[in-house]
Amino acid sequence: MADSVTAPGASRALVDNHGRRITYLRLAITDRCNLRCRYCMPEQGAEFVPHDEILTFEEMIRLLGILAPLGVNKVRVTGGEPFVRRGSVAFMGEIKKVPGVSRLYLTTNGVAVAEHLEALQAIGVDGLNLSLDTLDGQRFQYLCRRDLFSRVWDTFTRALARGIPVKVNAVVQEDTNDADILAMAGLADQYGVTVRFIEKMAFSGRDSGSGSEFGRLADRLFALFPRMVEVVDAGPATARLFYVPGRQGLIGLIEGYSRRFCAGCNKIRITPIGILKACLYDNGVLDLKAMLRGGADDVGIEAAIRAAIGRRFVDGMETESRVHRQIEPSMATIGG
Ligand code: GTP
Ligand code: 5AD
Ligand code: SF4
Repeated sequence: MADSVTAPGASRALVDNHGRRITYLRLAITDRCNLRCRYCMPEQGAEFVPHDEILTFEEMIRLLGILAPLGVNKVRVTGGEPFVRRGSVAFMGEIKKVPGVSRLYLTTNGVAVAEHLEALQAIGVDGLNLSLDTLDGQRFQYLCRRDLFSRVWDTFTRALARGIPVKVNAVVQEDTNDADILAMAGLADQYGVTVRFIEKMAFSGRDSGSGSEFGRLADRLFALFPRMVEVVDAGPATARLFYVPGRQGLIGLIEGYSRRFCAGCNKIRITPIGILKACLYDNGVLDLKAMLRGGADDVGIEAAIRAAIGRRFVDGMETESRVHRQIEPSMATIGG
C-alpha cells in the first residue's frame, strides 16, 4: 500500500539550497477549462496547447515514480480544470497507487465533478479544493462567463454529503463587496468547512498589473470579522487560518500576491507541458518533457531535478526580481 512506504532516508530526500524539504507536487494535467473566469482567462479562452505537447498520463506517472521515493508524498492535481481532460479520473486512481504518494488532492472548479464523486471516493482522493467565488448565480455567471453555478453547488453539497473533505477557494476581486465575503464566510459556519479568501494576482491575459492594487485583503477580513482568532501553526500552508468563536468552520486568507508563506515552501509544480517550476513566479527551471522524450533514464532525470531544486530562490519576491518573468497568459497554464 502507498501509505506503508517509509519516508526516504535523509540522503535521498529532495532538499533545496535553503534546507527546505520538497514533499508537495502540484501537477497541472491540462491547460483547458470549461469556465472563463475573468481573473484567469480572456473570454475567448487562452491559447491552448496542442494535445501532443501535453505530457501523457504515462509520462506523469513515470515522473511520480521518480519523485515519490525522494519524499514527494502529497500530490495536488490541478489544471486548467482537471476534469476536462479525458481519462482524468482513472489517472487519479493511478496516482494513488504510486508507492509513496500517500495524499492526493484536487483543485477543481466543480463544474463537471458531481458525477465522479463516487469514483473519487473509491480511489481514495483525500480532499477537494473547490474554486467558488460567489453564492449568487448571476454574479457567478458574470465572473466565470458561464451559467453553471448550480453544477458547482451540486458538487459542493454532494461531496460533503459523502464525507469528502472540501475547502472553498474564493478569489477576492476589485468589485467583491462585503456582502459577497460575508455570504462566503457563512458557508464555513453553516457547513463546517474552510473558506479561503485569496488575494487576486495579476495573471489574466492582458492584465500585467502588479497584483493586489486594491488594499490588503487581511485588513479587510479583520475589519469584517473583528473577533476572528488566528490558528497558530498552520504549517507550511499557503493559507493563514482563523476561527470565529462560536462559529463552525475556518476562514482562510491566502496572501498569494504578498507571498507571506514562502519561508516554508515545500512544493514544486509541473505544468501541463512538462516544465518543472521551483516557484510560482519563475519561468520554469527544467524541461522534463524534453528529458522524457529525449530518452533520459530515471537516474538522469532525478539528477536534473536535484540540480534544479538546488538553485531555488529564497522566496517569490526574489524569484520575481531575479527572473525576467514572462506574463503567463493564464493561471490555467501553470495550475495556480
Ligand atoms: P492546500 O494547502 O493543499 O490546501 O492547497 P493550496 O492552497 O496550495 O492549493 P490551491 O490549489 O487550493 O490554491 C489556492 C491558491 O493559493 C491559488 O490561488 C494558488 O495560486 C495559490 N498558491 C498556491 N501555491 C502558491 C505559491 O506557492 N505561491 C503563491 N503566490 N500562491 C500560491
Ligand atoms: N489570482 C488568484 N487566484 C487565482 N486563481 C485563478 N486565477 C487567480 C488569480 N489571478 C485561483 C482559482 C483556484 C486556484 C487554483 O487559483 O480560483 O482556486
Ligand atoms: Fe478555469 Fe480555474 Fe481559470 Fe476559472 S480560474 S477559468 S475555473 S482554470
